[in-house]
Amino acid sequence: MKAVVLAGGFGTRLRPLSCTRPKLLFPVGNKPLLDWTLKKLAKSGVEEVVLAVNYMAEAFIHRYGNSKYGMKLLYSKEDKPLRTGGAIKKAEELIGHEEPFLVLNGDILANISYKELVEKNRVNNAIATIALYRVEDTSQYGVVELTEKGCVTQFVEKPSSDKTTSDLVNAGIYVFDPKIFEYIPCNKPVSIENEVFPKLAVEGKLYGHIFEGMWIDIGELKNYLKANQLLLDIEIKKSQLASDVILEGKVEIKAPIVIDRKTIIGEKSKIGPHVSLGERVSVGKGVSIENSVIFPGTMISDFTSIRGAIIGESAIIGRWVKIEDECIVGDHAMIQDKVTLTRGVTVCPSKEVTESVLSPIRVM
Ligand code: GDD
Ligand code: MG
Repeated sequence: MKAVVLAGGFGTRLRPLSCTRPKLLFPVGNKPLLDWTLKKLAKSGVEEVVLAVNYMAEAFIHRYGNSKYGMKLLYSKEDKPLRTGGAIKKAEELIGHEEPFLVLNGDILANISYKELVEKNRVNNAIATIALYRVEDTSQYGVVELTEKGCVTQFVEKPSSDKTTSDLVNAGIYVFDPKIFEYIPCNKPVSIENEVFPKLAVEGKLYGHIFEGMWIDIGELKNYLKANQLLLDIEIKKSQLASDVILEGKVEIKAPIVIDRKTIIGEKSKIGPHVSLGERVSVGKGVSIENSVIFPGTMISDFTSIRGAIIGESAIIGRWVKIEDECIVGDHAMIQDKVTLTRGVTVCPSKEVTESVLSPIRVM
């Protein structure tokens, strides 16, 4: 079986961290989100994956090359963004027409069974079967009305609240029969959600498959942090430390956490729960870090506390600093000693912050 992973979005809602890396390469539990997806595809028996790339395409080619987890990797590179449908149509030449194939929004972390989805598509003789998930707030998703037999009667992308009563949303995980290609025009931007699914629903050829368990779209910063939490709870569960991590005396670790290679933690620091420390992170003494993601190469000095925050690559955080919930510190930023960043502050890459920031603003 073949799969297409849609990997070309700009990750606008993840700025400033997505200015220097595509969102599928954001670390979740210290591995790029795409690693987790590819691993799951390989386990499900997929042999060939087409990465539909555009924004920062080279970053994918550089990291993954031609194979991963025993699967062959191919790249379908757009000259300009073709949107979700256009990207799928462009992958037609690599996917071919032999059998149904999987398509995944690459920014999703989910523990769905791809095999069940494929089976649903076969049993219903559908052109497309989409995975569906129940959420409370449907406004950011494609919302679906379903018959008892699982046939989609209506698909509305990001509806205003009065347009639908359903709580079932498009999880961004699909099985398509090759006939899907007949529904998408060539060489132009097409939204599969706005232009193709509503039409298939009217024709009665779109089916849905409801699943439960872990599902999250990392496309927004608060969800990215939540995805890291979920992954640590569900996949990691314990404290996972690389073999060369150095813990100086009396470090207190609260699972689940992951700490990558060559990281050092100073004495009496408290790490966890729900913390990911990337490669070569240096943590001083008496530091406390909870529910946060620290990208590789960052330095956190003595007696600093970080809670509910994301700190980019190679940042320098001074002594006695306090970083509160929903703060984002960009790559290479520098936070001086004794600074407090209150809830919701964003610090742009390479910016130096010398004074406390006590309202939720973007420091440029
Ligand atoms: N190759 C390529 N080219 N990929 C793209 C492009 C493009 O022009 N535009 C977006 N993508 C990729 C993104 O990288 C992402 O992996 C996926 O397509 C979906 O795009 P998003 O921008 O993340 O869409 P969304 O999250 O607002 O909405 C989509 O996902 C929801 C589930 O999280 C829709 O499919 C919704 O219907 C769905 O509910
Ligand atoms: Mg998304």
